Amino acid sequence: MNTYLPPRGMRDIFGEDAEIYEYVFYEFKRIAKLHGFKPVYTPTIEFFKLFAEKSGEEIRETMYVFKDKAGRVVTLRPEVTASIVRLYLRSLRGWVKPVKLYYVAQCFRYEEPQRGRYREFWQGGLEVIGVEGLMGDVEAAYAASRFLESIGVIHKYVVGNVAFHRAIMNVYGLPDDFQEHILHLIDKRDVDRALRELSGRSRDASNLLGEFLGIGLEEIEEFLNHRRSILGDHLDKLLFEYERLRGFIDILNKMGYEAEYDPLLVRGLAYYTGLIYEYKAKSGDLRISIGGGGRYDGLSTVYGGPYEYFTGLALGLDRIILALGNAKVAGRVTAAIIALPGIPMEEVFNVKKLLEEYGVSSSIIHVKKIRKGLSIASRKGYKYAIIMGVREFSEGKVSVKDLETGVQETVNIKFLPLYIILRV
Ligand code: HAM
Repeated sequence: MNTYLPPRGMRDIFGEDAEIYEYVFYEFKRIAKLHGFKPVYTPTIEFFKLFAEKSGEEIRETMYVFKDKAGRVVTLRPEVTASIVRLYLRSLRGWVKPVKLYYVAQCFRYEEPQRGRYREFWQGGLEVIGVEGLMGDVEAAYAASRFLESIGVIHKYVVGNVAFHRAIMNVYGLPDDFQEHILHLIDKRDVDRALRELSGRSRDASNLLGEFLGIGLEEIEEFLNHRRSILGDHLDKLLFEYERLRGFIDILNKMGYEAEYDPLLVRGLAYYTGLIYEYKAKSGDLRISIGGGGRYDGLSTVYGGPYEYFTGLALGLDRIILALGNAKVAGRVTAAIIALPGIPMEEVFNVKKLLEEYGVSSSIIHVKKIRKGLSIASRKGYKYAIIMGVREFSEGKVSVKDLETGVQETVNIKFLPLYIILRV
């Protein structure tokens, strides 16, 4: 075993990549806050049972599950939404609704690693609690789109609504775990097998679902109204779900985003109850989803709490960074302060503080010879070297060398930050 290698599917992120990660995290949080979402941090390790029931076949199979030293069965979180519901039930029920939360969190899934698929990855999530209507869905989706735009990721929405698939199977009395299995097959795009296995239990259910999977958005209303006698009590709810689906696509289109309906979209997680959607990057060659979300109304009851409305999404930040391609992070101005012998340490830090106040990032290089200091500064890629030598310093001045052009000038310390900022 090569001890320098991290475990399979895990990565070290460093150098320029790490700068890009920081920038993307920062932008996600900035936009989330601008849209009124509040930060939350939940544990990386949760009880397995939090995810066991409603994660869906695929995610359940890919979870890192182990016993802690006291024999409790715990898991590295495969996602954060279940923790959000747990947190809400435990601590946020008294908050004025809607409760809007965001997170940037590491998640873990034991999947086969490939481009854009890792065993440890980062999600940026937005969740809205307590809104029954479409506005909750749109608020989260719009904030996500604004974030993607702010970092330059052109994207589109693929939208579906799993309430239809579920209602069709409910009408024929098919049990939940069997429904999950069928949805899982559709999610894998193995529709033939899904319908075949469904037919084994109920030929009518299979025919009806098969028909539904073949129709477009404009035909749904008629499809539902024609099945009035079969759908019975489900009809009103499904008409409502149709309105939400159409409304979501319409409003996104009106706001200038591409959004298309896909009856085969069911998503991997078992807790979705209605509207669902995924984000695809339009530029680059990344075909896999860069994010996804939807309605998970009532998930609170699975944990013994009262019924509540939930909607939200999570963006796959690693994939979004891949979709960014070779984008360079707008560089912050950086300077190396070369402090020569004889300069009091506190004065070096005073110069640093002055630069910091103007947003100039600096590092101190303590050397005996200017040449050595300049060599380190340019090899480390700083834009400027600020040379603090005894003679100039006694006159309240420093030398500033532009390491890209080689131009060097003597500057009054008072004007140092402005000199640097104005030259950029
Ligand atoms: P999800 O679709 O399972 O949804 O994951 C969201 C995003 O995380 C995916 O679209 C993808 O970009 C990224 N992702 C998933 N697995 C990996 C992986 N192995 N490597 C890299 N990126 C990955 C959820 O997790 C839901 N909790 C979303 C949600 C929030 N629904 C409602 N609220």
